[in-house]
Amino acid sequence: MPDAFLAHLTDTLAGIEADGLMKRERAIAGPQGAHIDVGGRQVLNLCANNYLGLADDPRLVDAACRAMQDHGFGMASVRFICGTQDLHRALEERLAQFLGMDDSILFAACFDANGGLFEPLLGPEDAIVSDALNHASIIDGIRLCKARRFRYANSDMDDLEARLREARDGGARHVMIATDGVFSMDGYLARLPEIRALADRYDAILMVDDCHATGFMGPKGAGAPAHFGVRADILTGTLGKALGGALGGYIAGPQPVVDLLRQRARPYLFSNALPPAITAAGLAALDIVEAGDDLRTRLFDNTAHWRQGLEAAGFDLLPGEHPIVPVMTHDARLAQEMAAALDAEGVYVAGFFFPVVPKGQARIRTQMNAALTREDLDRGLEAFASAGRKVGVLS
Ligand SMILES: Cc1ncc(COP(=O)(O)O)c(C=O)c1O
Repeated sequence: MPDAFLAHLTDTLAGIEADGLMKRERAIAGPQGAHIDVGGRQVLNLCANNYLGLADDPRLVDAACRAMQDHGFGMASVRFICGTQDLHRALEERLAQFLGMDDSILFAACFDANGGLFEPLLGPEDAIVSDALNHASIIDGIRLCKARRFRYANSDMDDLEARLREARDGGARHVMIATDGVFSMDGYLARLPEIRALADRYDAILMVDDCHATGFMGPKGAGAPAHFGVRADILTGTLGKALGGALGGYIAGPQPVVDLLRQRARPYLFSNALPPAITAAGLAALDIVEAGDDLRTRLFDNTAHWRQGLEAAGFDLLPGEHPIVPVMTHDARLAQEMAAALDAEGVYVAGFFFPVVPKGQARIRTQMNAALTREDLDRGLEAFASAGRKVGVLS
C-alpha cells in the first residue's frame, strides 16, 4: 500500500482527534442490560436501544439456543438459493400480521432494508421527498436510487408541501415521502397525521422507518403510525432495538412491494440469510410484545419518572414523551466531560456532538428501558445531579 495513502488516513484520524470527535468503544463483559460490566466495574446503563429490556431475556436466549439445536448455526446462503428456512417465512408473516401489512421481507439489518428499498421501487421518472433528519441508511438508500430527490426541513410541513408541489409540478410519476417515525437524536415523533394528509393530497406513498417505535409505541406496540392512528404504506424496522436487540431488519408493506423487493432488493439478493437463532428469537420477542402491555407500561412509567427527576434537578431537556430523553449541554466538550463524570459515578452514557447532532446542540442522550428499576433511576438521578454540578452543567 502506498505510504502516501496511509499518511493521508493518519492525518484524517489526527484531525478527528484534534477536533475532539474521536469515538471510543468501551467493551462490555457479559450481556447487554440495565447493569453492565465495563472494565471490571458494574455500571448502570442508560444509553441502550434495549427499550423493552429483552436483550438478555431468558425466553429469547432459550428460543435462540433451541433454534441452533434444531435448525443449525448458519445458513451459508442468500435466501433464494438455499437460505430460506421455515423460521424466516414464519417471522416475515408474523411481522406483517403484527404491523397490519400484507407481508414483510427480512434483511440482515434495517440499514440494509433502507439501503435496498428505494432503488427497485422508483426510477428516474419518480421523486422521493425526505426529511432532513432521516437516518443515514435512508439517505444512503435514496442516493442509490435514480428518482429525483427533494429534502424538507425536519418536520416542517410547509416545506414538505412545497417539495411535494415541486415534485408534482416537475411531472413526477410516483412520489414517495420518506420519514423516520421517531427522530433518534431528539426523541421527537414525526408529525405523521399531517404527513399522511399531505401524502393523500399529493397522491404520494408514505414510507416510515419505525426503528425507534416498533414494539413499544402505540396500541400493542405497533409503532409510531399506530400511536397516531394513521396508516403508513411501507414500514421499515429493526430487530436490533426493542425486539431483542440482536440484529436483523425488515420492510413491511403491500404484497407487490414485498414481492418486487424479493426479486430486486440488492442487500436481500446478495447477502446472507439471517441465522436461525436470530430469527427464532425474533418470533419469541413478538410473542412477548403481543402478550401484553406490562413491559410497555414499565417503560413509559420509567420515562416519566426519569424526565421529572431530571427536570426537577434543573437540567435542560428536549421536550417529549419518547423514552429517548436528551439532556442538553450544548457544548461538545461539556458533553464529553459530563459523560466522563457520570462514568466516575458508575453510570454509562454517551455524549453526542457534531457531526452526529448540529453544532451547539451537544447532549447526553439518555434512553429508558423496561429493565430499569425505580432504584436504578433514583441512583441515576443522583449521579446526574452530582456530575452536573461537578462539570458546571448545573449551577
Ligand atoms: C432510524 C433508524 N433507522 C435504521 C437504523 C439501522 O438499524 P439496524 O441497526 O437494524 O441496521 C437505525 C439504527 O441505528 C435507526 O435508528
